[in-house]
Amino acid sequence: MFSLRPFFSYFLLALCAFIRIFAGYYYMNLTMKAKKMMLLLAITAMGAVNAKAQHEVTAPQNVYARESMSLNGDWNYFVDQQEQGYYDYRMNPTRWGYFLNAKPQRPSDLVEYDFDACPTMHVPGDWNTQDEQLFWYEGTIWLKRDFEIESGKLKVENSRFLLYFGAVNYEAIVYVNGKKAGRHEGGFTPFCFDVTDLAKEGKNFVIVKVDNKRHQDNVPTLIFDWWNYGGITRDVLLISVPKTYIEDYTLSLKKQEKTGKKQEIAFSLKLNRPEAGHTVTVAIPELKLKQQFVTDDKGCLSSQFSVASSKLQLWSPETPKLYQVEIACGDEVINDEIGFRTIETRGRQLLLNGKPIFLRGVCSHEETAYTSRRCNSAEDADTLLSWARQLGCNFIRLAHYPHNEHAVREAERQGFLLWSEIPVYWTISWKNENTYANAERQLTDMIRRDHNRAAIIIWSLANETPHSDARDQFLGRLAKTARSLDNTRLISMAMEVTGASNYVNRLQDNMNQYVDVVSFNQYIGWYRDVNDAPKMKWEIPYEKPVIISEFGGGAKAGLHGDKEQRWTEEFQENLYRENLAMLDKIEGLAGTCPWVLKDFRSPRRPLPGIQDGFNRKGLFSDQGKRKKAFYVLREWYEGKTTNTK
Ligand code: GCU
Repeated sequence: MFSLRPFFSYFLLALCAFIRIFAGYYYMNLTMKAKKMMLLLAITAMGAVNAKAQHEVTAPQNVYARESMSLNGDWNYFVDQQEQGYYDYRMNPTRWGYFLNAKPQRPSDLVEYDFDACPTMHVPGDWNTQDEQLFWYEGTIWLKRDFEIESGKLKVENSRFLLYFGAVNYEAIVYVNGKKAGRHEGGFTPFCFDVTDLAKEGKNFVIVKVDNKRHQDNVPTLIFDWWNYGGITRDVLLISVPKTYIEDYTLSLKKQEKTGKKQEIAFSLKLNRPEAGHTVTVAIPELKLKQQFVTDDKGCLSSQFSVASSKLQLWSPETPKLYQVEIACGDEVINDEIGFRTIETRGRQLLLNGKPIFLRGVCSHEETAYTSRRCNSAEDADTLLSWARQLGCNFIRLAHYPHNEHAVREAERQGFLLWSEIPVYWTISWKNENTYANAERQLTDMIRRDHNRAAIIIWSLANETPHSDARDQFLGRLAKTARSLDNTRLISMAMEVTGASNYVNRLQDNMNQYVDVVSFNQYIGWYRDVNDAPKMKWEIPYEKPVIISEFGGGAKAGLHGDKEQRWTEEFQENLYRENLAMLDKIEGLAGTCPWVLKDFRSPRRPLPGIQDGFNRKGLFSDQGKRKKAFYVLREWYEGKTTNTK
């Protein structure tokens, strides 16, 4: 598809260069007005160049309901430790990089790479568990995949092609047919490029430069207690959408002052273009609901419709009712499964659908059972969810980053309430504006992807962050952003106990002004005060529900001995017994999330014969073996069962 745009931007650049060189001399003598004019021209030129490189668009809501071609499968790959395929030997970005997928045209041509001669790895998937040599690898790897656009398969006339990535850890630079589509940073949220101008009918190729190197100013920062799985870790789709398409929509049940005969369902929608007059139909056949709305000049609409309370089955762990919903605009029809529920706090109570609930939780990383690799499917999630089910859980803290959409939807289908978090973990660069922008982007993308998921009740902004003004400002801004994006859910973060003298544990944290639920991690019995749990007292001066977002201790499955002997199952069992009795004394305790569902990989856990690269605080081993503490927690949760039907 031929377009003038590339020439326009180079023309503007050349124009600036010309003005700069020849007018430079006169510049000093120019009036302030003329100087401002020149600056404006330069910025516009730069903007145009960036615009060219930047094909980034907002990832559409509910991508799996869109017309698309999966680009999952085997991708050729090779390691580029020194990023020679991106920088020249002067370390300037090169135009002749590996993204060109060059092939020798003549016998004498020098091309020192060949994707097609390279091994393949499966996408979605991390490289660490697919290639032994890459188990510890942190750096750049190039991945390539060919794909075909058959005419008629994807209606090219009036549609746009969006290249969607569920997630790539950590930095992704994406090229289609040798041209840059864009760059994304952050390993756990989706991103999308409009590649209509880069793709063509017939043969195409997409190349991704993936770099999972850790940096101080990243989110997460240099150190974190999980494996730094690198790669294209979630689905890749080539989505076909009409020129004007539904970018986002929201359906949620409005909170009610008092239970009435009718319930209000709020509905809003946003098109990708600011176009008025588009008719949108929303239908919930099971509720015999069908309504039409029209977009305003921003391409948006926001309204509500009511339904008889008697007819509406609310979503809850006991009855995870999802309604088929159909949203249509022009020839675009999107089907979704949506549950309706309300979540709120009243004093120290947590109310689901207006009824008090106790969150019988567990924390879990996005790592598969048995094989310990990145999860990326509903099946991967199902095994972990079945283990949480065995524990008697109704709640899962998805630690410490947004998990894949399949897992969130599977948990919702199975009736698990969820806590979803961004990896603002430990001590990140609070004063760095780019770090803030990155964190805010991850927060926005997390909420944008999952804001229709009834299962998610809490957005978590951070984990175990050190107190400082810079930190308070950083997290305060994130809290405001979260509220502005979604005022139907609760906000929290995993804090830390601040003062512990004479067995009195105090929680003083400026962040409490921003959160709806006070959550904190405590490791009494493991990192501190072994066997002192019975003596502990708590001072939590906030009239809000309390969630213990982490507690626990390690045990090597199958290692038995005295309860004083660390790493034995008996030590962990005793720790749980004492901790649960201690937690029961906390006023306003509305939930607990022990650390952690299963043993998981971490480079911070080297102890030979015990840890061997695994954090062993699981209630299950990585191979699914229940440890003795499992039974202590299950029994305690049996006593905490509340019915919110
Ligand atoms: C921390 C942290 C977890 C970590 C755990 C541990 O609290 O939030 O990510 O794995 O403690 O030390 O095991």
